[in-house]
Amino acid sequence: MQTSHRTSRPTPRTLLRAGVVLLLGLGLGLAGASSSQAGAKPSITKEPFGSVGGKAVDRYTLTNGKFRVRILTYGGIIQTVETPDRHGKLANVTLGFKNLDGYVTSKNPAYFGALIGRYGNRIAKGKFTLDGTTYQLAINNDPNSLHGGNVGFDKRVWSATPVTGGGAVGLRLTYVSPNGEENYPGTLRTTVTYTITGDRGIRIDYHATTDKATVVNLTNHAYWNLGGEGTGTIDDHKLQLKASRYTPVDATLIPTGKLDPVAGTPMDFRKPTAIGARNRSAFQQIVYGRGYDHNWVLDRRGSGLAVAARVSDPASGRTLTIRTTEPGIQFYGGNFLDGTLYGTGGNSYRQGDGLALETQHFPDSPNHANFPTTVLRPGQVLRSTTIYQFGTD
Ligand code: GLA
Repeated sequence: MQTSHRTSRPTPRTLLRAGVVLLLGLGLGLAGASSSQAGAKPSITKEPFGSVGGKAVDRYTLTNGKFRVRILTYGGIIQTVETPDRHGKLANVTLGFKNLDGYVTSKNPAYFGALIGRYGNRIAKGKFTLDGTTYQLAINNDPNSLHGGNVGFDKRVWSATPVTGGGAVGLRLTYVSPNGEENYPGTLRTTVTYTITGDRGIRIDYHATTDKATVVNLTNHAYWNLGGEGTGTIDDHKLQLKASRYTPVDATLIPTGKLDPVAGTPMDFRKPTAIGARNRSAFQQIVYGRGYDHNWVLDRRGSGLAVAARVSDPASGRTLTIRTTEPGIQFYGGNFLDGTLYGTGGNSYRQGDGLALETQHFPDSPNHANFPTTVLRPGQVLRSTTIYQFGTD
């Protein structure tokens, strides 16, 4: 089982991964700068986006060629992603809200675009034991704990520093979660760097350290609709997952602990398959999830970046390829969207209007010794990278 993303080397805080040659850090002081030639040179601009609990929130716009991404310091939320279709027409392909109030007032129950921590996905009954101590987390997804508890990383205001270099532009976000926050042990220092590459990629580098043994599972919860947010369902999108196995769940979406083969089931996405072809199946797992809401075990060797998923929209021609260093990916088909949330463009989001592909360690890992570990100890460094690469067919 892979544990190699947690390494015990000393803790240099920058330029950590081989391959991260993006010269992060050279762009200090760029906040507020803007490029008059968006589309020519990578640029990053900053604007005030309101406040929450007395804390100012900023919105950064990162542009590189015909690709533009907006990120909020609230929750590290990816608010919009504009990318061209096969004819060069731009659309915003991620679900979100128009303004900060949309996220704060609704509490963003679907976690649109947000960074998730300390523990992405579910922990059974919100309980785990580490080094002989049992911790009880908030039960916010009855009877389990979901996505870090009542006030997870998705609802925190992060400190932001723009970074540039190597033809890319990025934003480094930092959040220090105090010992005991949401009942998790240890002071957890987390840095997440979003880098927008010239070829329409969003690279996310996660980095975390702790001063006491704890459990961590970081991800981003962006939803995608490659036809454009608010334009309908993703039933016609084709999905391919590089996974021969998945972690079956019980009725509360907690893994049973088994790694089952996908072969011969509606969970088999080894070949590109339309999502709508099987998401109404009577297969027990699909019934439990009201559709797809499961973790796939990625077929991979070693701990480097490997392709996990590819999504394509035959109508627009847009594609999304996801590479990650993580061992698993949660494919969630937007099953709980019920028409009550109104998105960035003003339309309501209904069931299946977007899909999330959350690169991660497996759900409830702290309670399954056979899953790759999510334990992080003092002196270890959590490093994880995921790249969302957009293109067209
Ligand atoms: C995750 C879960 C889903 C749902 C969404 C948020 O993807 O697996 O069951 O809770 O978050 O709506």
